[in-house]
Amino acid sequence: MIPARYAATRFPAKLMQDLGGKSVIRRTYEATVNSGLFDSVYVVTDSDIIYKEIASNGGKAIMSVKEHDCGSDRIAEAVEDMDVDIVVNVQGDEPFTDRESLEKVLSVFYAEDSDKVDLASLMTPMDDWDDIMNPNSVKVIVDENNYALYFSRAPIPYPREKEINHVYHKHKGVYAFRKQALLDFYHLPMRSLEASEKIECIRYLEYGKNIKMIETSHEGVEIDTPEDLERAKKIINKENPLITKSINTPVIQTTNHRNFPMVPKVVFGKGCFNQIGKILSDKRNGIAPFVYLIDSVFENNTSFIEERLSLSSTDEIIYVSTAEEPKTSQVDEIVSKIKNSYQFIPSGIIGIGGGSILDLSKAVAIMLTNPGSASEYQGWDLVKNKAVYHVGVPTISGTGAEVSRTTVLTGPERKLGINSDYTPFDQVILDPELIKDVPKDQWFYTGMDCYIHCVESLDGTYLNAFSQSYGEKALDLCNEIFLENNLSKEDSDAKLMMASWHGGMSIAYSQVGVAHAMSYGLAYVLGTKHGIGNCIVFDKLGEYYPKGVEVFKKMKDYHGINLPEGICANITEEQLNTMTTVALGLEPLWENALGPDWKSKINASKLKEIYRSL
Ligand SMILES: [Fe+2]
Repeated sequence: MIPARYAATRFPAKLMQDLGGKSVIRRTYEATVNSGLFDSVYVVTDSDIIYKEIASNGGKAIMSVKEHDCGSDRIAEAVEDMDVDIVVNVQGDEPFTDRESLEKVLSVFYAEDSDKVDLASLMTPMDDWDDIMNPNSVKVIVDENNYALYFSRAPIPYPREKEINHVYHKHKGVYAFRKQALLDFYHLPMRSLEASEKIECIRYLEYGKNIKMIETSHEGVEIDTPEDLERAKKIINKENPLITKSINTPVIQTTNHRNFPMVPKVVFGKGCFNQIGKILSDKRNGIAPFVYLIDSVFENNTSFIEERLSLSSTDEIIYVSTAEEPKTSQVDEIVSKIKNSYQFIPSGIIGIGGGSILDLSKAVAIMLTNPGSASEYQGWDLVKNKAVYHVGVPTISGTGAEVSRTTVLTGPERKLGINSDYTPFDQVILDPELIKDVPKDQWFYTGMDCYIHCVESLDGTYLNAFSQSYGEKALDLCNEIFLENNLSKEDSDAKLMMASWHGGMSIAYSQVGVAHAMSYGLAYVLGTKHGIGNCIVFDKLGEYYPKGVEVFKKMKDYHGINLPEGICANITEEQLNTMTTVALGLEPLWENALGPDWKSKINASKLKEIYRSL
């Protein structure tokens, strides 16, 4: 397990620094995999950027669910439910991790005194006095059997008697634990020695655990400072002189690109919703029911939807209010209601409504076959079991939820999707007739979500031919629908349905940007719905998307839309802080919008200024 925090205090974003054509974290990951010693290797991270870096290059990464003080806590959370006996913690900033050292640390668990060992770690002799005095180098002292006595940033022992030729040892951040020792650590509170030195393995000593130290001569380089990075680059260049010359030459990468699932079946056309009975009949498992989640706006208009469904006696319709953005608690509630009503897992979940209902339906389908709460699956690829068959029927278009691999949900700790291979619908029914009665404001706000997807994707640094081809088509359709006046209502609805689909596809292989990041902040704190939130924010983003915002304002005027004003006028400083934190936490969105050095272009006070203007 390689714990990897994005925001290192001493050297921010150090794990994403380039080291001979690959990031530091990727080099560490590959060196660990190449040792051939492990059944599995994972990077455990709090950062979307690091997650993406590993996953998009064919590696395995896990997003930590909780905030953690140290790397061990981060990996403890990740292994808690894994079936493992020995866990090795490899530091993310050690790109030259070698097989020999890892082998040595593992050998402890096969040695004679292995019963006594709670964990094992590495040390290397040091003779450079500057290094010995440097608080960034952690020193360790051991007893006669090489069990650790203490770790410190101070030179231990203190060299009062100069004649004593003590060999100092530097601690190397590689640990091997028995799983139980790791979990114990996770549940024990930090004490003052650890807190004072900021060295996590002191916690074990403070609780009387035995740490067996193994000596290795392998020096390696820990990337703690920009100078360390320069040293590491020199080593890489020595190993592979070709790389030095390649500063401006594109590196040919044998990367594994992300392999996305798509919606396997889609039916399109006016009136195609009437075929739903036939489509579902093949999917019915005996008497296991179909459960319909339908937007409560249709509750008093049953003829529109219900009469066209061929319900069997066990099927159920649950009307869901979409006054607020969908929440993980709402998903959990619906899942437990379904589980309590039926002995069987349903034959399928059918979502009929706008983006919220579609996201909710995807999440419910997943949670019927996966234990725990929906909030445990917010993130990338955390879903373990295939979802129940699920069908999406949009009745408002623009969000792209019908085609996306995510379900955006507000949880107790964050607003984040359940993004997994099991999320996309098994079937989508695109009937333009279903969107014909959407109230004008809502039609505009949701349609603009699609328009903003296109602008943010096409203007982003992640842009590629895949995203561009869908984004450009969707943008053309939006211009036709919202700016030109020569479409019949029927054509316009059909085109908006396809614009939404294409806009969703465009961001599948890229990202959204500033408006979405800020709109997520609004939604988290004020519950502002996605479409209108995007519009309120986008209207003020001329600095970031000049052309896109200009056209947006034309569309708004053309349709006589008045956006709410002053929505942040009465919010507290604390709310403003939360909003800003939520928005800035969406790192890939900012990186897509502003480039890899986005942190130099946007900060909390700038964001607050924009929020205050809304
Ligand atoms: Fe969106």
